[in-house]
Amino acid sequence: MSEYDKAEGAAKVCVTGGAGFIGRHLSRVLVERGLHVIGIDDFSGADRRALMEFDGVPNYSFVEGDVRDPEIIRYALEDCRTVFHLAANPEVRVGEQDPVSHVTGNLDTTVAVLEAMRAEGVKEILFTSTSTVYGEADQIPTPEDFGPLLPVSIYGGAKLGAEALISSYCGTFDMRAALFRFANVVGPGSGHGVTVDFVRKLQADPKRLEILGDGRQTKSYVHVHDTVEGMITVFEGAMPEPGYATPYNIGSHDWIPVTEVADTVAEVMGVKPEYSFTGGARGGGGWKGDVPRMMLDVKKLLGLGWSPAYTSRDAIKDTARWLVGEEKATTET
Ligand SMILES: NC(=O)c1ccc[n+]([C@@H]2O[C@H](COP(=O)([O-])OP(=O)(O)OC[C@H]3O[C@@H](n4cnc5c(N)ncnc54)[C@H](O)[C@@H]3O)[C@@H](O)[C@H]2O)c1
Repeated sequence: MSEYDKAEGAAKVCVTGGAGFIGRHLSRVLVERGLHVIGIDDFSGADRRALMEFDGVPNYSFVEGDVRDPEIIRYALEDCRTVFHLAANPEVRVGEQDPVSHVTGNLDTTVAVLEAMRAEGVKEILFTSTSTVYGEADQIPTPEDFGPLLPVSIYGGAKLGAEALISSYCGTFDMRAALFRFANVVGPGSGHGVTVDFVRKLQADPKRLEILGDGRQTKSYVHVHDTVEGMITVFEGAMPEPGYATPYNIGSHDWIPVTEVADTVAEVMGVKPEYSFTGGARGGGGWKGDVPRMMLDVKKLLGLGWSPAYTSRDAIKDTARWLVGEEKATTET
C-alpha cells in the first residue's frame, strides 16, 4: 500500500479501476483539474506499466488491491469527497461461460464500495454502467427513461443490479449518484472490444477476418475523450440532490454496422481481408447476450453543454491507429 501524501487544500477523489482504460483517462483529467486523485486497482484487467504516466505527479496516489477487501477500500476512501467507481469485469462475452464472474466483478465490487462509503461518510458516487442495461430496446436511440429494463447479458444484469443498489443506498443514506450508461467506449489505451479483436486477428492473418455474428450488428461507439468529458460535465455541474441517483447516457450521435468497423480497421492497417461470419446468436448478435442494435439518446447530456467530438467511425479509426502504433512500440522494445 502506498502512503497517501495529503496535498494541502486539494479535494480528494477516488477512482476505482484507476489503472484501467477509462480509469487512466479519467484520472489524468481529474489531476489536471487540481484534484487529488487516489487510484485503486488490483491489476486483474490492467498492466502495471500503464500507470507510469502518473509517476512523480504530486496530486496522484495509488493503492494496489481488490475493492472487495474492506480494509483497502476504506483506506482509499478516507477523506474522499467523491468516488468514481469503475472497477469491474467489463468482458461481456464471458457471461456465457462464467456468469458468476459478473456477479462478483460488477455487483459485489459495488456493494463493497457502497459499504466503504457508508463507513467513511463519502456521499457522492459516479458509476460506470452500460447501454446493455436496456437489453434489446425497441426504441432507438434509447433514452434514459426507457423501460422496462430487461438486460439479456449477465454483465448487463449485474450492472443494472448495481445501479439499483446505488440508488437504494442514495435513498437510505443521503448519498447522491450519477449512473453513466456508456455506448461502446473506444480510444487510445483500449484493451478489449471489437476494434482490439479485429486488429489482433489481422496482425495474425491480414488476408482473413472472422467477424462474430451475421455482420449486420449495428452499434454506437464513443471516444474515451468524449466519455470522460461527459463524466466531468456531470461531476462539475449536474449531480442530483442528496438522496437521489440519476442516469446519463454517453454515446456518439451515430451507429455503424460491424462490417464498417472491419472496413475502418482494415483501411488503417492497409490490408484487404476477406470477411467470414460466424452466423451469430439471437438477432444476429456475435454471442449469447450480445445486443445487435444499440444507439443511445444523448439529449440529456447535450442539454448540459456537452457534445461528442468524434463520430463512431472516427473513434474506431483513432483506436485502430493507436493499437497499430502500440504494437510496433511493443515489438521494438
Ligand atoms: N469500455 C467500454 O466499452 C465500456 C462500456 C460500458 C461500460 N464500461 C464500464 O466502464 C468501466 C471501465 O471499463 P474499462 O473499459 O476501462 O475496463 P478496464 O478493464 O480497462 O478497467 C477496469 C479496471 O478495474 C480493475 N478491477 C477489476 N476488478 C477489480 C477489483 N475487484 N478491485 C480493484 N480493481 C479491479 C481492473 O484491473 C481494470 O484495471 C467498467 O466499469 C466497465 O464496465 C466500459
